[in-house]
Amino acid sequence: MKQQDHFLRIPKDVADMLNEQIAQENESSFAYLSQAVWCDRKGFQGAAKFLYKQSADEREHMLRIIAYLNELEATVQVPTQQKGVAKSSYPSLHTIFTEVLHNETKVTASIHKIVAHVLKVKDYRTFSFLQWFLEEQREEERVAQRAIELFDIMGNDGGVGLYQIDCALAKLIEEDAA
Ligand code: FEO
Repeated sequence: MKQQDHFLRIPKDVADMLNEQIAQENESSFAYLSQAVWCDRKGFQGAAKFLYKQSADEREHMLRIIAYLNELEATVQVPTQQKGVAKSSYPSLHTIFTEVLHNETKVTASIHKIVAHVLKVKDYRTFSFLQWFLEEQREEERVAQRAIELFDIMGNDGGVGLYQIDCALAKLIEEDAA
């Protein structure tokens, strides 16, 4: 294939945006992993299960984009391994789920930005590819929002309330996977 054919398959600026999205999915995966570890150590098994699954899902999102760029023979920028360790301490379980919702909102905004751009440049192939991500983000925001609601419903002041929230989080991720 000739070099210029690449630009017919996917515009370079779209490929660049998708590569930035790969980095964002990777960051999300590691952020959720470190939150899962904290929950596990604190005995929040339901929350840990939820977050380990979220972490694996984000990696899967990254791989989806990589596969798409590979299919179109576009450049793939695999995020580098970073030195150091992720945050290992959090003020509370509630803080973690506030961060999850905030992160998902940010990812949705990023996907929307790419969608708006591909429509502008008439890259309908990528627009079609991104439909799955639009639906996935709708669902991920819904689940994260529901997790926050659990704190409002069951209370956030330790003891029984937190135990009930933890059990409900385990159920929430099971329902999401079903
Ligand atoms: Fe892949 Fe939750 O964004």
